[in-house]
Amino acid sequence: MAAPVAPAVPEEAAMAAREAAKSAKTLDELRAILDKFDGCALKATASRLVFADGNPQAKVMLVGEAPGRDEDIEGLPFVGRSGKLLDRMLAAIGLDRSSVYIANIVPWRPPGNRTPTPQESQICLPFILRQIELADPDILVCLGGPSAQTLLGIKEGITKTRGRWFSFNTGKREIRAMPTFHPAFLLRSPLQKRFVWRDFLAIQKAL
Ligand code: URA
Repeated sequence: MAAPVAPAVPEEAAMAAREAAKSAKTLDELRAILDKFDGCALKATASRLVFADGNPQAKVMLVGEAPGRDEDIEGLPFVGRSGKLLDRMLAAIGLDRSSVYIANIVPWRPPGNRTPTPQESQICLPFILRQIELADPDILVCLGGPSAQTLLGIKEGITKTRGRWFSFNTGKREIRAMPTFHPAFLLRSPLQKRFVWRDFLAIQKAL
């Protein structure tokens, strides 16, 4: 009989993820390892892996939550409606996809664009942590509450934490991290854009 696709016990999957992520020496290796990793059940329902977009040498790295339908089709993060808004927000401070690096906590689309479960995020966490370590940005931008809570280990909601600088240890060094509202939230609540504008100006100033 064939081996089971995903380990039955999540802790086993998390352990396998930590080992696999640690073994990647480059971002290309990490992408290849992730593509072969079967410990997260989302892989089975997604069309493809959505690893990253942009410039891995960039000073700024942005991390969202999980790919949606458009991202699942194209294999790139933030290419749908919220991605278009993100591009406009970046352009407002003189940045584009050649000057930022973009990824997600979870690299496979959850069915029907549902929120990833805490278990799915925890299984994928070692990979995004290693991705950040290997990309080695100067500034990390957490797009939305789930990204901020998962990466920065904070419990407070995004309304309280957005616009504040946090310290983030990449594994190599301490860098600055800022949570801000997710572009999908801004599409639903356009009045909140003024806060993100402030956050992005602070990021521009820090560069
Ligand atoms: N929302 C995210 O968090 N990530 C994407 O890539 C697209 C939408």
